[in-house]
Amino acid sequence: MRTALLAWPAGHSLSPPMHNAAFSETGLRATYEALAVPPEELGEVLTELRSGGWLGANVSIPHKVAVLNHLDQVSPEAQRIGAVNTVVVRAGELHGYNTDASGFLRGLRDIGEVTAGQHALVLGAGGAARAVCYALLNAGVTVHLTNRTPEKADQLASEFADLGTITAGEIPVAAFDIVVNTTAVGMAGGPAPDALPLAREVLAGLPRTALVSDLVYRPAVTPLLRRAEELGFAHHQNGLAMLLWQGVEAFELFTGIDASVAVMAAALTESLDM
Ligand code: ATR
Repeated sequence: MRTALLAWPAGHSLSPPMHNAAFSETGLRATYEALAVPPEELGEVLTELRSGGWLGANVSIPHKVAVLNHLDQVSPEAQRIGAVNTVVVRAGELHGYNTDASGFLRGLRDIGEVTAGQHALVLGAGGAARAVCYALLNAGVTVHLTNRTPEKADQLASEFADLGTITAGEIPVAAFDIVVNTTAVGMAGGPAPDALPLAREVLAGLPRTALVSDLVYRPAVTPLLRRAEELGFAHHQNGLAMLLWQGVEAFELFTGIDASVAVMAAALTESLDM
């Protein structure tokens, strides 16, 4: 049986080694490959998925929204987030899920407690921010969203207003419990590889107990995480946490069996080092 990542470009994805390690561990005769799918071919590839031999697929940039038009069923979460990252084939039907939001939250809980009433600062207002904000609001966390292009943060905040307390705009002076970078700032090869996604004074002003989560994982220690470490923040993580847990949940949806989290985590770190 086959599974794949549908993306354009396919890039150097860590998902194939992560899922293939899990397939080997469980003894399932299945493979996971990265497929470069241009936008105009997405429909065709999804039709091929229905035709047998496929467990499902992950969907990445730029297909997470467009894929919704090709599915038979979409989970309520994915519907509300407006994006699907996991498609499962069931009796020739395509079922869409979003494991980014729940995967992010499970990853964040690896480094500390996430409870209702906490305050989170979310940097960025793109696709990743949607999943992060959805997950945090769903957990009862109050969210403040800030973005280079303020209108996009305003837009997302109003779209998610019914899910909980979410504000947008300049970063207020406040004691945030959680900080999440969903922007590409700090990513190797990205638009600003050496920059911090927020002013250093803002970070320095936060309680050292705050959970600092950077969705970037190349480099493994991003500028934000390095600064957090220097300032004495005890709980921080890069984007491998979210990548791992969205993958674990996707694997369980594809196969219906428990994923070996340790095996998947080891495959991820190993492949990142290569
Ligand atoms: P993703 O799906 O990974 O979230 P995206 O939808 O393209 O990708 O969103 C990228 C985010 O990174 C956006 O919030 C973007 O800000 P804009 O909305 O202003 O474009 C942010 N971003 C990218 N490059 C940035 C930079 N150099 N400085 C600040 N923010 C940046």
